[in-house]
Amino acid sequence: MEDFDVVVLGAGAAGMMCAIEAGKRGRRVLVVDHAKAPGEKIRISGGGRCNFTNVNTAPANFLSANPKFCVSALRRYRPSDFIALVQRYGIAFHEKTLGQLFCDGSARQVIEMLLTEMDQAGVTLRLETQVKGVARDGEGWRVSFSNGPVACRSVVVATGGKSIPKMGATGLGYEIAQQFGLNIVETRPALVPLTFEVKTLERLAPLSGVALDAVVSSGKTRFAEAMLFTHRGLSGPAILQISSYWREGGEISVNMAPGVDVFQALRTARTATPKRALSTVLGEILPKRLAQLIAEDAGAYGNMADCSDVLLRGVAATVNAWTFKPVGSEGYRTAEVTLGGVDTDGLDSRTLEAKAVPGLYFIGEVVDVTGWLGGYNFQWAWASGWCAGQAV
Ligand code: FDA
Repeated sequence: MEDFDVVVLGAGAAGMMCAIEAGKRGRRVLVVDHAKAPGEKIRISGGGRCNFTNVNTAPANFLSANPKFCVSALRRYRPSDFIALVQRYGIAFHEKTLGQLFCDGSARQVIEMLLTEMDQAGVTLRLETQVKGVARDGEGWRVSFSNGPVACRSVVVATGGKSIPKMGATGLGYEIAQQFGLNIVETRPALVPLTFEVKTLERLAPLSGVALDAVVSSGKTRFAEAMLFTHRGLSGPAILQISSYWREGGEISVNMAPGVDVFQALRTARTATPKRALSTVLGEILPKRLAQLIAEDAGAYGNMADCSDVLLRGVAATVNAWTFKPVGSEGYRTAEVTLGGVDTDGLDSRTLEAKAVPGLYFIGEVVDVTGWLGGYNFQWAWASGWCAGQAV
């Protein structure tokens, strides 16, 4: 039987980082993936430019049943560490917004960089290989693959979450966790577009494609970013962010004109330009199609002069505090990440090793640590992979 020190299941961001670090420490490392190519999510991330980290990364940017769990790994491997690696490879990048770093060229450069690092660290990579089972074997492990079993001292589960099954996401990591007695915090799609029921969709159909800056809130959580009307409901960064906090039956509130007191603005316009239509005045605050629809919904077909305070107040409330209940989300089909996962209670926050199962590690998205949109999820993948790589 083939023998390695470390077997890493999953050649994604976390798995490759862990393999590099373990290899650099002289460990004999095998990385296995059932996909045809490594790092497929890196390739499609950030619209093909990979938002590989966020310079403002802090524990507050992550959701987890234990918000403190991620502190140790994020401290030990920081955005500046990954930036230094990227710079060493001469990969040009830029900050797009809010601390988000993207490649100037292509996400493939990040994959190439990781593969080169793996190669230099002597890591063996096997693709298109199915995992048949993981079992204890004395002090070590026996991992069965479609092409035979492998013995090793440490198993690292880096199989990611459930999002985008079409790209190879499976529940394998959760199954292995449960097999060895670890709990799973309920999983759900996150960073995902939200959907409306049919009636609302019909009414909002003309808005498909309209984008605007908004402040979107669910309970006490709020995000000020762009929002997009789609033919299924709402998307755009602000909506993806809030989707991680929203639960079925819950309300979402949107201020579609942040910083503008729309009631006052409309009253002023009524005095200054009484002959203009409400939709025209609103069109100076909002995208025109949206302004038109809101004016129509309010039944305001005449001039500003004909608009009562009550009507203007109603319109202003729609703009400054539009409140609605999404019917659901687009689900794992389009979700960028999976909320929940392997319960951090069972893991050592410094090494990511299962406390009760020596030699078994869980890193990356499979763990119940989920970042906001904006490079945080890759930073968690790098940091947790790096930490496990020092320990295996
Ligand atoms: P990841 O999913 O990357 O890797 C898991 C690997 O395990 C895959 O290669 C998979 O094939 C393999 N695997 C799964 N099941 C297996 C099985 N049964 N047998 C063998 N192998 C198996 N984040 C961010 O910070 N910035 C960004 O720009 C983006 N953009 C983005 C866009 C889109 C469209 C998506 C879907 C996601 C993002 N993300 C992101 C999120 C980011 O991609 C994600 O959080 C990380 O890839 C997670 O890294 P992991 O290594 O944990 O899992």
